[in-house]
This record gives sequence, structure tokens and C-alpha cells, in this order.
Amino acid sequence: MKRRQFLKSLAVTGTGLLLPRTPIFGADAAGNKLNIALLGTWGRGEAHFSAISSENVVALCDINEDHLAFGAKKFPGAKTYVDWRKCIEQKDVQAVVCCTADHTHAFAANWAMNRGLHVYCEKPLANSVEEARVVRATYLKNKTKLATQVGTQRHAIENFNRVRELIRDGAIGELQEVSAWGNRKLGKPGYLPAAGEPPANFHYDLWLGPSPFHPYNPDYFSGKSGMNCLQWNMYWDFGSGQVGDMGSHTMDLAWNAIDAKLPTSAEGKGDPFNPDVSPVALTTRFEHPANDWRPAIRVSWYQGGNMPESPAPSVDLNKIGHGAMFEGSKGTLVSDFNSRILLPLGDKSDMTYYKPRTKGKLIPPLGDFQKEWINACKGSLKTSCDFEYGGNLIEQMLLGLVAYRVGRKISYDGVTGRVTDNAEANELLHRTYRQGWTLNG
Ligand SMILES: NC(=O)c1ccc[n+]([C@@H]2O[C@H](COP(=O)([O-])OP(=O)(O)OC[C@H]3O[C@@H](n4cnc5c(N)ncnc54)[C@H](O)[C@@H]3O)[C@@H](O)[C@H]2O)c1
Repeated sequence: MKRRQFLKSLAVTGTGLLLPRTPIFGADAAGNKLNIALLGTWGRGEAHFSAISSENVVALCDINEDHLAFGAKKFPGAKTYVDWRKCIEQKDVQAVVCCTADHTHAFAANWAMNRGLHVYCEKPLANSVEEARVVRATYLKNKTKLATQVGTQRHAIENFNRVRELIRDGAIGELQEVSAWGNRKLGKPGYLPAAGEPPANFHYDLWLGPSPFHPYNPDYFSGKSGMNCLQWNMYWDFGSGQVGDMGSHTMDLAWNAIDAKLPTSAEGKGDPFNPDVSPVALTTRFEHPANDWRPAIRVSWYQGGNMPESPAPSVDLNKIGHGAMFEGSKGTLVSDFNSRILLPLGDKSDMTYYKPRTKGKLIPPLGDFQKEWINACKGSLKTSCDFEYGGNLIEQMLLGLVAYRVGRKISYDGVTGRVTDNAEANELLHRTYRQGWTLNG
């Protein structure tokens, strides 16, 4: 039996004693603990401390040794690492929570799954179309063994369920068009200039990881805990700006209700192209084929001041910082993360076409989002934002950036992952990595 298969059938206790994991242990039973490695032990990593503290946190990794010490204070029994590639080789690790910088997400997630480990990966799951496809493919190959979750925890807000029910039950008639938007603006002129050497306890080369070299500048790391991603995520080699940042969360509000997979086309317009920094203002549009309950639809993403048109004079979308709008044949639904507004079409609509669900038929609450994954690792393997759902979402969003870069509408074949009418766009589906780094390690 392979080592990981063996470990999967056993629960490893904190004492190092191996106990069989049999069905008599429920997901929450005292002896049924998951052995977790946390990659990134400060910032977003800290937001996971409480959820994972019910488990055995056996390994910690951070390229910043001060942050590693911060994590070790909370989980003193864990072994510590500065290189996640070594961390995920630790023999008793069963599951990985990845809170590193965006440009390492797909690598860490994919390498971990290749070693038979369950993965919770912070959003965005990938930094290129190719990365999204590779991670999704690895997950699909292993989906009968592994539980995965993209860190879009707003998905657990019950408004997500209410929005889905309204769309599926025909509250706006037949769905025609979907928009999502975010108003965060983080403009930067270009990569920061060299500014001294990294401190000795800060492993900058490991932070760069697969990305091309850029000189060290402490301003990339000057943000508050949990917000430091806003210091580096707009630079192409480190992130995808708001597309991957709030785009991951806000498109999720729409994605959850539309049962979309991959688009057949993409187009994008925004700020003039900057080779260093992703655009602040951007609009991307995608065509999605019909599915078994709705016709073909157009899905759009707006950011940095670009906005869809308000559906009625009484509704000012600009007052909703991050939201989604669903336009149908009989009305419009506007939603932010926590609440929604239903606008029947015109003053003649009496909504007799729509029958609300009975209480018993409501989509049940998801509960705690991180716990959903922990429980899935121990049994059902079922999560709400697995790497198929989240992989499709981020592949669409990142394809929009490719269309923006080539400046024209592109046709996309989601089966092969190729743009069928633009050679330059195909070149932009993947990123070039530093020597020694491979995505499928
Ligand atoms: N789900 C959410 O609501 C949410 C909120 C904030 C951040 N995030 C995501 O979490 C990630 C981290 O964001 P942050 O603001 O905490 O950033 P950060 O720059 O503070 O990084 C978090 C920690 O990871 C460490 N780290 C970075 N690269 C590493 C690597 N290769 N190996 C090991 N450790 C590494 C850093 O030293 C730091 O301690 C980002 O991808 C961001 O998009 C998600």
C-alpha cells in the first residue's frame, strides 16, 4: 500500500500512535483528527488558527521566520519549515491549508494533491489560465480520494442560497445576463525599485518562488495582517489584481446561482496595458452556453470604477461596493454579499408567475466554511467550492485578463484550453517560471 493511502485509512494522534479511522468515529469524534500543515502562518494564515486548532497542526511553513515563530506560538507541537516543498513531504501530513502569496497557490495546491493530501487553498486558486486547468485536472483525477476548498468563505453567507433559489425558481423569469463588480482601486506605476537586502530571517528567494526575479523592496511586505496581499497582488508576477482578489469572492456570488462551466468567448477593456501592473479599471465579458435549466447567457465582470448600468432610477449600483446583478425576462435581482433587491419588470408585473419555496425546500445553510472542508477530509469529500467549481470560476476570470491584453474578443475552447482565433492570446494563457520550478511537481 502506498504511504498516503495508508495514512488516509488511519488517524494519526498527537502522541504519534496510529489508530484506524473507522466509521464509528464521526467527523467530530475526539479521536478523529486531521494532521494539517499550514503554509503561511501570519496574515490570512491567522484567520485559520481557530478552525484548525480542533485538529492536529503538525507542520508550519513561512518564508518569514518571525511569522513562523508567531504560528509556532499557537501550535508549539508543529515542525517548522521555510520551504513549503519540504513541509509537504513531512510523513504524517494529511491535509494542507495554503495561505501563501497568489503566485504560489497553484504550485502548492497541485504538489500537495500529487502527494495525496487534501487542500484548502486561499483565493485566488491560480495566477494563469494554465494553472487553473492543471490544478482542476489534478483534483478531478483524485476527487474520489481528496477534499478541496477554495478560500471563498463568503460562500457560507445564507444570502448566497437565497439568491440561487430566486434565480432557479424563476423570480426574474428566464435568466439572460449576469454581472458582478468590485470597486477596489489599488493603482501602482510599476514594480518597486531595489531597496536594500532582505533581512536574514526573511527568505525572499522562496517568496519569489516560481516567479521571475524582481529586486527586494520592503514595501511589498508593509501591509497590515490579513491585508498585506494588497501590497503585491496587482503586480503581474505576484497576482492578478482585483480579478483574483475581490473578483474571486464577488464572481462567486454570481457563479453559485448560474451553474456555469467555461465560457466560449472572452473580451476585455480597461486601463491602458502596463507590463508591470494589472489594470485598475477593467470590464470583461464572457459568453456561456445554455445548460439544462437556462439559455445561453452573458457574464460580465467590472472593477475599479467600471460598472454595469443601474436597472432603474431608484437603484444606484454605485452604492454597492461589491455586488452582482441578474437580469431576466421578467425582472432583475441585485445582490451584495449579505442582502438582495428584487425588481419585477415594469409596474405591470404582479409576480403571479413566481411561487416562492416552502421553508422545508430552502437550501440548507452551509455552516462553517473551513469546517465544511475539515469534515469533508474525514469522510464525504464534498465541499461547496472544490477545485472544479473554483477552478472554472478563476479560469474564466483569468481568461478575461488575456482578452484584455490582446485587446479583442477571443473564442475559447474549454475542452482543449485553447483560444481558437488568436495565437498571441494562447501565449498569454501560461506564465514563464524561474528555472527549477515546475507546476506539476
Ligand atoms: N479569503 C479571504 O477573505 C482572504 C483575505 C485576505 C487574504 N486572502 C488571501 O490569502 C493570501 C495571503 O494574503 P495575506 O494578506 O495574508 O498575505 P501576506 O503577504 O501577509 O502572506 C501571508 C503569510 O504567508 C507567508 N508567505 C508568503 N509566501 C509564502 C511562501 N511561498 N511560503 C511560505 N509562506 C509564505 C508570508 O510571509 C505571511 O506570513 C493571499 O493569496 C490572499 O488573496 C484571502
